[in-house]
Amino acid sequence: MSVFDEQPPLINHKELCQWLKNNYSFFKIKDVKLRSLNSERDINFLIKGINNKKYVVKISNPKESFEQLMYQDVLIKHLRLNKKLRKIYPEICHKNILFFKDKKQRNCPVRVLTYIDGNMYAKSKINNEIEKSFGRILALQSIQLQSFINNAAIRKFDWDPSNIKWTKKFINLFSGFNKEIIKDAIYQHDNFVYKNIKNLKYSVTHGDPNNYNVIVKKDKIIGLIDFGDSIYAPSINDLAIALSYAFMSSKNLYQTLKNIVGIYNNVYPISSDEIYSLLGLIKSRLVITLVMAAKQRKKYPDNKYLSISENNAWLLISKLHKVDPYFFIAVVRDICHLEPINNYSKLIKLLNNHSYGSIFDFKLNNVNKKIVNFDKKSLLLKTNPSNKKLNTLVEKFLKNDVGIGLYKEKRKVYKSDHYVSSLNSLERREVHLGIDIFVKENTPLRAPLNGKVIILHNNNFKYDYGPTVILEHNIKRFKFYTLYGHLSEKCLKKLKVGQIIKRGDWIGDIGGYKVNGNWTPHLHFQIMSTLLNEVNNFPGVGEKYLLNIWEQISPDPNIILNIPQTFFSNKDKKEIILSNRTKNIGRNLSISYREPLHMLEAKDQYFYDEHGRKYLDCVNNISHVGHSNALVHDALINQNLKLNTNTRYLYNIINEYSDRLLKTFPKKLNKIFFVCTGSEANDLALRIAKTFTKAQEVLVMDNAYHGHTNSLIDLSPYKFNSKGGEGKKDYVHVLRMPDDIRGKWTAKNRNWINKYIEEATELINKKFTKKNLLSSFFFESILGCGGQVVLPKNYLKNICKLVRQKNALCIADEVQTGFGRVGDNFWAFQEHDIVPDIVTLGKPMGNGHPIAAVVTTEKIADTFNNGMEYFNSFGGNPVSCAVGNAVLDVIENDNLQQNAIIVGTYFVKELNKIKQNFPNYISSINGKGLFIGIDLIQKGNFLLPNQKLATDLINNLRHEGILLSTDGPYNNVIKIKPPMVFKKENVDFVCSEIKKFLIHKDKK
Ligand SMILES: Cc1ncc(COP(=O)(O)O)c(C=O)c1O
Repeated sequence: MSVFDEQPPLINHKELCQWLKNNYSFFKIKDVKLRSLNSERDINFLIKGINNKKYVVKISNPKESFEQLMYQDVLIKHLRLNKKLRKIYPEICHKNILFFKDKKQRNCPVRVLTYIDGNMYAKSKINNEIEKSFGRILALQSIQLQSFINNAAIRKFDWDPSNIKWTKKFINLFSGFNKEIIKDAIYQHDNFVYKNIKNLKYSVTHGDPNNYNVIVKKDKIIGLIDFGDSIYAPSINDLAIALSYAFMSSKNLYQTLKNIVGIYNNVYPISSDEIYSLLGLIKSRLVITLVMAAKQRKKYPDNKYLSISENNAWLLISKLHKVDPYFFIAVVRDICHLEPINNYSKLIKLLNNHSYGSIFDFKLNNVNKKIVNFDKKSLLLKTNPSNKKLNTLVEKFLKNDVGIGLYKEKRKVYKSDHYVSSLNSLERREVHLGIDIFVKENTPLRAPLNGKVIILHNNNFKYDYGPTVILEHNIKRFKFYTLYGHLSEKCLKKLKVGQIIKRGDWIGDIGGYKVNGNWTPHLHFQIMSTLLNEVNNFPGVGEKYLLNIWEQISPDPNIILNIPQTFFSNKDKKEIILSNRTKNIGRNLSISYREPLHMLEAKDQYFYDEHGRKYLDCVNNISHVGHSNALVHDALINQNLKLNTNTRYLYNIINEYSDRLLKTFPKKLNKIFFVCTGSEANDLALRIAKTFTKAQEVLVMDNAYHGHTNSLIDLSPYKFNSKGGEGKKDYVHVLRMPDDIRGKWTAKNRNWINKYIEEATELINKKFTKKNLLSSFFFESILGCGGQVVLPKNYLKNICKLVRQKNALCIADEVQTGFGRVGDNFWAFQEHDIVPDIVTLGKPMGNGHPIAAVVTTEKIADTFNNGMEYFNSFGGNPVSCAVGNAVLDVIENDNLQQNAIIVGTYFVKELNKIKQNFPNYISSINGKGLFIGIDLIQKGNFLLPNQKLATDLINNLRHEGILLSTDGPYNNVIKIKPPMVFKKENVDFVCSEIKKFLIHKDKK
């Protein structure tokens, strides 16, 4: 027979008072008064002794083991050894345990302890401070108990939540949903406690820190009493038991958890295994309470203590039944400063480094997207329309664009009780954990990566997911999941649970309003690092106050979708930017395309606009080594954080960079002047040439552009001969551009190059006499503004020879063509077997940072040093040099010069194929390396340049996501000069779109 089956002591108060007076000196007072205290199995009295000091007289059940009572005394003494805890436990006042005979003449053991004067936790108004204090006391107690062991503690005990197998046979005491709850708790005990039990740390435990054994005073725990249930068990039992009662006094389970567990863990760290079992233990304790109550109520209907917490236990276990056990673990891990999801950082790293296929048959970044807001400011929800109305509004808003519903958006669409937070009923789950993609009904879906179907379910409640697919993925043994909600029913028929899915495989179609949970057709796409305890479904929204946990459970799905971040953060409207620009900025700055582009970010050879749309950049040769190159950026900021000054001070980076840059030139060219722009470089080159030659006249090529300053507009027929230009100045002389298509002499004439050379010879000899001395000849080796025209073989060699005969300088403008772009050589002039006297550099030199230079010979530089200082505030500053150096690093490290020849040659070859198929539209493919032009004509007539076709083509391809520009004297040349990281696949894309455009043109 156990102590629970024996009736508690039956006491005659008068006899007891006398007995106490006889046996304890501190009760030798006149009037001993007994006040009964609640207890489950002992009979306890509060008594005032000598000096009004309060004592508790504990009269134990006659069946109580004497050894157990002795043990409790030893335990209390041990706990009181800890200074921080001493006052928390009662002092033992008896020397020996004596026996008192009750009404039934049974020998009942008696102990006397001091009384801790305060309120029971169960009867107190609990606040954060009390809970924190409770956590601290429990932790200190756990620490103190680690150094205590006693054989009497090692026993099997029904109230031990780490072993509730015995309760299974009482399940039938319950019925209906209550039974379900109990069964579920027992099942979770098996999973989370029993299977993990070997991983739990054991020690003696208090065993019953319930809210009637905890004493509170002035927002603090001042006492912890009753050691009758102390056993050797998992140390974490005490925390679990304490929580199972503390939760009963709490409206906000999360806050209580945070207060008690947070402090407990700070004082005495909890292991992840203990966290794993915590909820299981809490619920197990509640199961014990409920089973005991059901059992005992029948037997001892009078003992109120037995069922005192029964109602509260039902309320609490029903609440906890709704808490996902894995979610609870994540919450407690977070409270204990662990990653809520074990190995989350590793998983995210893997996810970020993985490559994904498109989720649709089209690429999300190749279409215009619009953000569909469902937050409280949402205009779509302004009139709080029924969902059907909302559909029409969304469709009207999107037109043909794809809608994007935001991750982590706090929404006001989730209304039912289903969304009440399980850990705090005052909070709701309303933060969206996926990304919604609004596309047309029946749009097919593709798996973005290999996986396996693990959940296929129709969540066919209003506003739920409708047909849903969940795939399991495995990257390097890390499992994670992706969810696709609001599909049509087709996936339920065509897919099977367990089916292996390859990246790109069909996994469903977007469902319509009727089947998808009554939503506007869209995909709810979500990533999950864990499935939690879900079998059919998965929460698509989470609590804001637990967002740091949800973020780890459902990381940003954009890791897979890869929509540029700026699309989400952009607040600027294109129309406003445009109108402000017109207001603030001079109007002769042109804007590309009929429909201007508002770019938000760029990387390598791609741009991303305000619609999160990706564009292949085929024209920005300034971003030579690719947009937003990290190495160049780092070089810039690192140097900028160290030193940025001007050339009047000494710093070594200017020497390092100059050495390296000059090595790319023929030996003779060994002096460098740094400036900031191509114009500045050409302007300085002109000044140097004039100083060196003491001459004024200048020779240039027709259609050339050398810069925007006064002097350079004069040297740029491209400018001075066109709209707004003032025509040619007398000191400027223009050589005809050798144009093999529609020039004075064309390739039809075998001798055509010589004809141009002869004409130039005549001009040079005639114009430059002793009166009109020639200072310099400016040339680009490939005329960019002339229409990507490569100067023919021997042309430059001959002209330079003639120029030198006139003691003038040859100045190669490499502003566009330098730094490996032509492929075979680092500088385009090297293709012509000449060594200029001066070379000017710019554009690609700093990958967008304003740095340019003039390179010349020692002799010329010396002559230029005529007493007048050359000072440039910014030219050659340390930051610019660091940037220039980094650009050279990337060109070298990434073999970009080699890439220019491989990809450039392939490009020209592919364009020539198009030319053969469309001789009516294309007359020639010009250029070298990644500096290419397509000459467009009308009706197959070389002599009819087709400016309209060129403009149409670039505007059309802009809508296909390709950026090109037009140039040449007739603006009929498509200019191609992309970042040097351009790839063959980019070439294929451009060529296929050009072909499509021309085929379409043909059909018209
Ligand atoms: C051949 C050439 N030289 C010089 C320049 C002027 O360079 P910047 O615009 O840096 O002043 C340009 C600019 O387009 C150019 O194409």
